[in-house]
Amino acid sequence: MNDPIPVVEEKVLVLDFGAQYSQLIARRVRECGVYCEIVPGKVKAEDILRERPQGLILSGGPASVYEPNAPRCDPEIFRLGLPILGICYGFQLMAHLLGGEVRASAQREYGPAQLEVLQPNHLFADLPPQLRCWMSHGDEVVALPAGFVALARTANCSYAAAADEHRHLYGVQFHPEVSHTRRGREILYNFLTRGCRCRGTWSMASFVQAAIPRLREQIGAGRVLCALSGGVDSAVAATLVHRAVGNQLVCVFVNHGLLRAGEPEQVQRTFGEHFKMHLVTVDARERFLACLQGVEDPEEKRRRIGQEFVTVFEEQSRKLGPFEFLAQGTIYPDVIESGTQFAATIKTHHNVGGLPDNLGFQLVEPLRYLFKDEVRRVGEQLGLPPEIVYRQPFPGPGLAIRILGEVTRERLEIVRQADAIVGEEIERAGLHREVSQFFAVLAPIRSVGVMGDHRTYAYPIIVRAVTTDDFMTAHWAQLPAEVLERIATRIVNEVPGVNRCVYDISSKPPATIEWE
Ligand code: XMP
Repeated sequence: MNDPIPVVEEKVLVLDFGAQYSQLIARRVRECGVYCEIVPGKVKAEDILRERPQGLILSGGPASVYEPNAPRCDPEIFRLGLPILGICYGFQLMAHLLGGEVRASAQREYGPAQLEVLQPNHLFADLPPQLRCWMSHGDEVVALPAGFVALARTANCSYAAAADEHRHLYGVQFHPEVSHTRRGREILYNFLTRGCRCRGTWSMASFVQAAIPRLREQIGAGRVLCALSGGVDSAVAATLVHRAVGNQLVCVFVNHGLLRAGEPEQVQRTFGEHFKMHLVTVDARERFLACLQGVEDPEEKRRRIGQEFVTVFEEQSRKLGPFEFLAQGTIYPDVIESGTQFAATIKTHHNVGGLPDNLGFQLVEPLRYLFKDEVRRVGEQLGLPPEIVYRQPFPGPGLAIRILGEVTRERLEIVRQADAIVGEEIERAGLHREVSQFFAVLAPIRSVGVMGDHRTYAYPIIVRAVTTDDFMTAHWAQLPAEVLERIATRIVNEVPGVNRCVYDISSKPPATIEWE
């Protein structure tokens, strides 16, 4: 771990017991202006003290406290004097460890419930006495530990919320972090401000302000290399590092010829001309085409592109070096997903174009504690244009995996032109922020058509547009018929070699978003 953690005045830790909602809890806390990190549920009390948090949140989780391998927290955490909020399993664990009783509910509860607040308290301060909340549990607390009182109940759950306000210990059986719990954010806000006495000073402006001196301290007089892909994460990371150390940073942009129309020019305009960074653009189009010749298998394409990328990047690093540091756009979900969650013991994690571990650099990862939406806001703070800040995701192997079968110069040109038309028409219809991802795919088959008096025998273009929150599941976008018609007419008329256009109406699962 080379990166200093961000300097923050206030911090809350989420102890994770395997909840699907832990990330959501962390995001909600940050939305309240309090910096928050996710740590493993079993973290030791002394390690927590070292982090100096203002409070702890115990997450939910799929286990039952009486199961032999149920995840536990260090019982010492309840003696630290820190305010603690237990959510669902976290509440049950707190009750169990402090002498209460937990049992399988007579009625398992999944879904909305009406919450009735029983007495004035910090957690529900300034909120109405009846609230809609979201329940999702099989067990519940049936006897409170000594010192606790019930704060709220539902029809099926006597202890929907409870607290020992002297010890600043709170528990809720429902999920305040999900949007189905109306006013859930205010409940978390109350815990943070009234329970933990946080002021809520964490913002992206304060992040940038704190990150720059920390980067200067970390990098010193060293030289930094960064691979720019045109994507938002590497763009924001590079801009932040540049703001800190200027031209000690050298950015390399590998134009592998698999990019969308206008992308290489935009990278040059933004980073080279506007920010005046030391930007080296490598024209590697012929090399990538050559290494993809005759390759049809999607995984083989990915492998070859990844390998070629590393080769080109290493050549540049030798030519432009020496460098002590490599800047990367790793973000917090990458860190969490790599399973190395606790700041003090985090190991390195790579997410740039498949760069291997052994390049011999120290890593600079200024965004490794930020969620995607926070990265975008940092990008805005730094003055990056909206085309980059709100760019839709684009796979590393680029258009190569949007050409089914062999990648050729002709097919690349076709798919690039068709993709530009899809983008222009969706933007013209004002749908580009609503639809999560939209693009064209070329199928390596030909069908018969007629143009004027001539028979044509040409490729079809598949148009794909999806809406999604997390890209793990997705729905096909119900684009208005007139938008689809304009796209189809333009593609068939303007792109030579295409005589037919089809719209993909599959959702994920069972399909994936990309075709390869
Ligand atoms: P799928 O096709 O798996 O895509 O539903 C989910 C998201 O991931 C993107 N994607 C990739 N991104 N390298 C990347 O950097 C890849 O090889 C790759 N394959 C898919 C895809 O565009 C979508 O946003």
